[in-house]
Amino acid sequence: MLTLGIETSCDETAVSLVEDGHVLSSEVSSSVDLHSSYGGVVPEIASRYHTEYIFTVAEKALEDAARSVRDIDLVAVTSGPGLPGSLLVGMAFAKALSFALGVPIIGVNHLTAHIFSCFIGKEGCPGDIEYPFIGAVVSGGHTSIYLVRSLRDISVVGRTIDDAVGEAFDKVSKVLGLGYPGGPRVEKMAGSFSGRDEIDFPRALLKDADNVDFSFSGIKTAVMYYWRDSKKTDAEIRRICYSFQEAVVDVIIKKIARAVEASGTEVLAVGGGVVNNSLLRSRLEVSCRENGTKLRLPDRTFCADNAAMVAFLGEKLYRAGERSDITMSADPGAF
Ligand code: KG4
Ligand code: ZN
Repeated sequence: MLTLGIETSCDETAVSLVEDGHVLSSEVSSSVDLHSSYGGVVPEIASRYHTEYIFTVAEKALEDAARSVRDIDLVAVTSGPGLPGSLLVGMAFAKALSFALGVPIIGVNHLTAHIFSCFIGKEGCPGDIEYPFIGAVVSGGHTSIYLVRSLRDISVVGRTIDDAVGEAFDKVSKVLGLGYPGGPRVEKMAGSFSGRDEIDFPRALLKDADNVDFSFSGIKTAVMYYWRDSKKTDAEIRRICYSFQEAVVDVIIKKIARAVEASGTEVLAVGGGVVNNSLLRSRLEVSCRENGTKLRLPDRTFCADNAAMVAFLGEKLYRAGERSDITMSADPGAF
């Protein structure tokens, strides 16, 4: 079964071909440079970019996979959450393709796709995803923890009450004048700090041992005030980035470990753009080793927004009997 996946929920225009669970191609074209000077994604720019590039990206994905448009058996598309105008471009393209080819279409939740991206290329055979497990999404738009009992039985156990962790990285980066996207830039600056004399930034909502929600707006404000009163040197930027990264990674690890323990599950899958962060990856590995939890992380290519995760999950949902209709709507506020 050949599935063409489409992802246009934010600033990446992505198309992928997945055949029986195996990724044949994953093409991503990002408008990130166009948003850089604004310090965040400008929705109108993102949707115009999708309109301009989706055909080219789809053609390239088919070419890389050495498949023709007539080989497609299923079209999978991100239906939400995301920017309304951006989602609509992918949705319209997917519907047109499905209608013209006479093949089924399936809407895929972007957050669930991030969680299941952890299993791409790792299964011995279809069906050996180890349910139930704790799934977490740490991205620019979301920071949430879920109990995943099956493909379709997924419940939220914790989430951020304000900013998402990627958003906090982006805002801190903006304050320090490092630009957008902030995550990789903050990580790079943090990596060149000696590690001595760390700033003690707040680690929110850790006191109550049962709490698995997140809050990152306090640390963002703390960084702003610290920067305002600092000497504004390069060395200070490195120190702030290091201390900020240590604090947020520390909180994420502790909260996720709590959720795993409370659920009694043995497997943890963490997806989303922030999983590109090397400190987060290595601390997750250490924490899971100590707690006897099996850790599933996506390959770095599948952390940030991509369409392989959409096609991969779309195929699984279709095989499990899920169907969408050509009249379906985008659902920007889905969770
Ligand atoms: O999953 P994603 O591509 O888009 C959303 O669905 O939000 O995640 C993008 C986010 C951005 O906020 C970006 O700054 C963050 O992921 N990010 C990182 C790193 N690479 C990307 N955050 C921390 N460290 C990184 N290396
Ligand atoms: Zn995402």
